[in-house]
Amino acid sequence: MPESEGGKYGYFDDARREYVILRPDTPTPWINYLGQEDYFAMISNTGGGYSFYRDARFRRITRYRYHGVPLDQPGRYVYVRDAESGQYWGATWQPVKRPPEFYECRHGLGYTIITTRYSGIESQVTYFVPLGQTLEVWRLKITNRRDRPAKLQLFSYVEFCLWDALDDMTNFQRNLSLAEVEVEGSAIYHKTGYRERRNHFAFFACSERIAGFDTSRDEFLGSYKSLENPIVVEEGRSRNSIVSGWYPIGSHQVNLELAPGESREAIFLLGYAENPQDEKFEAPNKINKSRVRKVIEEFTRPSRVDEAFEQLKQYWGRLLSILQVETPDEHVNRMVNIWNQYQCMATFNLSRSASFYESGISRGIGFRDSNQDILGFVHMIPERARERILDLAATQLPDGSCYHQYQPITKRGNKEIGSGFNDDPLWLVLSVAAYIKETGDYSILDEIVPYDNTPGTEEPLYKHLEKSFQYILERLGPHGLPLIGHADWNDCLNLNVFSTSPDESFQTAPDRTDGKTAESVFIAGLFVLAAKEMAAIAERIGRKSDAEKYRRLADEMAKRVLEHGWDGEWFLRAYDAFGRKVGSRECEEGKIFIEPQGICVMAGIGLDNGYTVKALDSVYKYLATPHGIKLHHPAYTRYYINLGEIGTYPPGYKENASIFCHTNPWIMIAETIVGRGDRAFDYYKRICPSVREAISHIHRCEPYVYAQMIAGPEAPRYGEAKNSWLTGTAAWSLVAITQWILGVRPHYDGLLIDPCIPSDWPGFKVTRWFRGAKYVIEVRNEERVCKGVKQIYVDGVPIEGNIVPAFSDGRTHHVLVIMGRK
Ligand code: GLC
Ligand code: GLC
Repeated sequence: MPESEGGKYGYFDDARREYVILRPDTPTPWINYLGQEDYFAMISNTGGGYSFYRDARFRRITRYRYHGVPLDQPGRYVYVRDAESGQYWGATWQPVKRPPEFYECRHGLGYTIITTRYSGIESQVTYFVPLGQTLEVWRLKITNRRDRPAKLQLFSYVEFCLWDALDDMTNFQRNLSLAEVEVEGSAIYHKTGYRERRNHFAFFACSERIAGFDTSRDEFLGSYKSLENPIVVEEGRSRNSIVSGWYPIGSHQVNLELAPGESREAIFLLGYAENPQDEKFEAPNKINKSRVRKVIEEFTRPSRVDEAFEQLKQYWGRLLSILQVETPDEHVNRMVNIWNQYQCMATFNLSRSASFYESGISRGIGFRDSNQDILGFVHMIPERARERILDLAATQLPDGSCYHQYQPITKRGNKEIGSGFNDDPLWLVLSVAAYIKETGDYSILDEIVPYDNTPGTEEPLYKHLEKSFQYILERLGPHGLPLIGHADWNDCLNLNVFSTSPDESFQTAPDRTDGKTAESVFIAGLFVLAAKEMAAIAERIGRKSDAEKYRRLADEMAKRVLEHGWDGEWFLRAYDAFGRKVGSRECEEGKIFIEPQGICVMAGIGLDNGYTVKALDSVYKYLATPHGIKLHHPAYTRYYINLGEIGTYPPGYKENASIFCHTNPWIMIAETIVGRGDRAFDYYKRICPSVREAISHIHRCEPYVYAQMIAGPEAPRYGEAKNSWLTGTAAWSLVAITQWILGVRPHYDGLLIDPCIPSDWPGFKVTRWFRGAKYVIEVRNEERVCKGVKQIYVDGVPIEGNIVPAFSDGRTHHVLVIMGRK
């Protein structure tokens, strides 16, 4: 196995927009997402992971054992067996884990290619989901690099899930009697539950004539054996088993003979299909396969697969071309141009539902999460952002509060988690504002949207936004600050729960009513930020009195923050249910929190009196670490009943003072607001995955995407990341670097340009499609300032101010920006 270089396990191949992993035994499974709209799959660098249709809980196609042993199984496997020697291995290393002569995994945009070589036999599997399809392709190319012929047998393997992933791993008394399959030609159909209620099934097909198949895991593995050494593979003989109950799988046997140097291909398709109710069966109890047969026929043709792969590449090329940058820093270029935008697609699609840390069961689409994810996604496909905004708004309740999460397949609010996270409603205002700034499409405000998905309750989206504010205003505490409710952005600051039972979940435990006066400075800051956006929107649609009202509300709230939310050197975090300060120098632990410093500066609170700079200097002094900025300081060393879940985590992890990356971009943005580009960029680099690649042995998660957290200095595993992929860090980092540091920012009235960069940068370029025109922006920083625009020329003509108009003329416009002191 090749040794990794320094702390790395691979490298970025920027030209191909891939991350190349050079050894299979990465510290954690390093994964990729396949699928862009309805069919999704996660795939690790050794083929591990699972697939689902739209909803990772209710339409789970294959199984995955999150804390199983060995790690990262099962997956999408192809065993290769040398029929002469009887030796066998996994084409993607797992699940056999024999040491390969060669191994390489290339994670690209929407595809993964894993290549291995064993005993002179090279195999390369390309996995991807074709655009517009509900299936995944595994294209296997196998090459004989020996100088003699090779007789080989291939055994594919997937393990089916019985659809509802939660039920699948709990309700064994029922489930072990359910499994049913059909086999027709080279195709295996998984049809558990396909009776009167379900109309969906899965298929696992193969382009080649098969020598055998298996659908029973017991028969495939043999008694008490494992995926590492299945009896079928050991003996080189499929059992043609038809499962009945127990554990359904799909496996094909394909026999091949390869001359020296010869390559062959086999295409496997794993897919999902639904039939209309009245066309479910072609014979009693037999699935009507007429649609699927056509799909299988189509995608087992290599030319069609080539074409679909090409289309996928073009799709990503087009999407990414909307925003491209050229800066003096390769990490910025790589992250912005490729990986950060790619991650924004994943967070937009999946919210916090399914990753290698999110089981796909407990958390669906998060209200605040998805509203924030839109900020990093809206420029790519605004129509999908629009649709998502309306779906989210439809889970708002008539009083303005919101379901904290909803289930993707039903789009219904999740009753179990319920509402009462008092920051939630305000995030809707920010996503709508971002959508309008990007598109100029104010008509979204007139869209008629129900409350709680209840017909008859519809009101224009604008009204929903008003209700968001109203909800907060009707819930102010003793200092006139917003009540926190169950929690605000920080899910674990549960100031009203007072839980003493280890068997109670903080997320679902009720709030005690006797102490419901806890207030949040964070929500106050968010309120100011949102109210300013609302005023700007109202202004532009001719609602002058609303505009005034929201400006006034913002001012009043800002005043209260200055009066009751300032601790001397930084913004307070909250008042607990007894009116005691949280995040104050008076506190024994948790003296300063990051969130209010970020949000209040972003909202412009204290810009005039110097509080902003003071607050940010305190962040630098108390919270900044070489691995990023931690959530609060010092970590809580014990559980405080008045603070909630936060103190249940050991110091330095998760909400208890880890580097909770989501909040770091807020500070980057705040630093640009006060003009400190060097510091903003320094913070950017501390959590930047590509920068941290060099310390992969410490960071341990994928070096191409952000993780939710990095263990803080108070944790034994300081610097180690966890919970990669599905985090608000993706959207906020993209916003921080492109809109605030590079400073190219959609504005209601055009494209605003106001960079705040490191002072040693001579300049940079941004290409941006914006409202139907292309802007090629060149920024020159001859005076080496951090901030300050002297003059902007658009197509050679100087303009007033720094907002470039939206031309919407389909043409290319050249924008020259001269930075410097005025
Ligand atoms: C998780 C949640 C997010 C929350 C954050 C802080 O990332 O998905 O909604 O704001 O934790 O608790
Ligand atoms: C836990 C996590 C937090 C998450 C919440 C919701 O509190 O620490 O990040 O938001 O659960 O499930």
